[in-house]
Amino acid sequence: MLSISVKEFLYWKKKQLSKGGDQQSLTFLIECLGGISNKDLNLSIINFEGKLHLKKNLDFLESIWEYHLYSSSPIQYLCGATFWRDLKLKVTDKVLIPRPETELLVDIVSKIFGKKSQKVYFAELGTGSGAISIALALAYPLWKGVATDIDEEVLEIAIKNYRNSSNESNLEFYCGHWWNPLKSFQGKFDLAISNPPYIPRDTYENLPKEVKNFEPKIALFGGDDGLKHISEIIQKAPFFLKENGWLILENHFDQGKKVKQLFIKNKFQSVEIVNDLSGVGRFTIGRYK
Ligand SMILES: C[S@@+](CC[C@H](N)C(=O)[O-])C[C@H]1O[C@@H](n2cnc3c(N)ncnc32)[C@H](O)[C@@H]1O
Repeated sequence: MLSISVKEFLYWKKKQLSKGGDQQSLTFLIECLGGISNKDLNLSIINFEGKLHLKKNLDFLESIWEYHLYSSSPIQYLCGATFWRDLKLKVTDKVLIPRPETELLVDIVSKIFGKKSQKVYFAELGTGSGAISIALALAYPLWKGVATDIDEEVLEIAIKNYRNSSNESNLEFYCGHWWNPLKSFQGKFDLAISNPPYIPRDTYENLPKEVKNFEPKIALFGGDDGLKHISEIIQKAPFFLKENGWLILENHFDQGKKVKQLFIKNKFQSVEIVNDLSGVGRFTIGRYK
């Protein structure tokens, strides 16, 4: 641990921000690699002569910050980790950085299933860093889950994240295209969740360079209209869900109505569009018969 005065640290922080970038990314770097949370920093500001204890020296943090500004690489990739709900997850440029809006998926599940004593069998398709499945497996130790991804390297990261977060063994991982690796689980799931790639071609081409040049295309691009993967997941879901099993999907901000129609066309009931915290119809949920 390296000791530094609050005054010196605040001066350093101000200097870094004057070079560019946003406060949120710098705060993230300081917490993730420096080991000082924003809350700790705010508490220490009452005594400028007090000491802060850093896990890495300022020159090292500065070199990462400058590389971030120069390359536009997301700070999470440069730090090799991200925070999501109460988890710290390893991320590399093979996996999508899990987004804050996706955190709500876990709350939607909790609202539907409520009691922790109930046993639920869930599947997550396209798990990426494992964020959603790990959060569910931790919140509901009695539940059992399977998480899939098309990419073996992505799954390795998800598995590492699970092992780092939990001593339980209520989550298994399978590699393959959407439902394909789950053929032996037909009719078994009470719940299936997915945040699939749903960005339409035009939008994908115009994504900010921090996203388009760094995050995996396979995690983002959803075909010409963005609904390619969503349609496939919905169409095949009835083979894998139990009677009255739930399907919960994240979609692009303007896809809610179309996704709802796809649910209805495939004989789902209680179909609803659920808004995210900014009032956008970000999720679609429904029950199979
Ligand atoms: C939008 S990311 C979501 C990742 C993670 N669940 C999250 O919410 O942060 C979509 C994920 O689906 C995976 N994926 C893409 N195509 C797939 C396919 N055909 N079958 C299974 N997984 C796929 C990607 O590798 C990526 O991890």
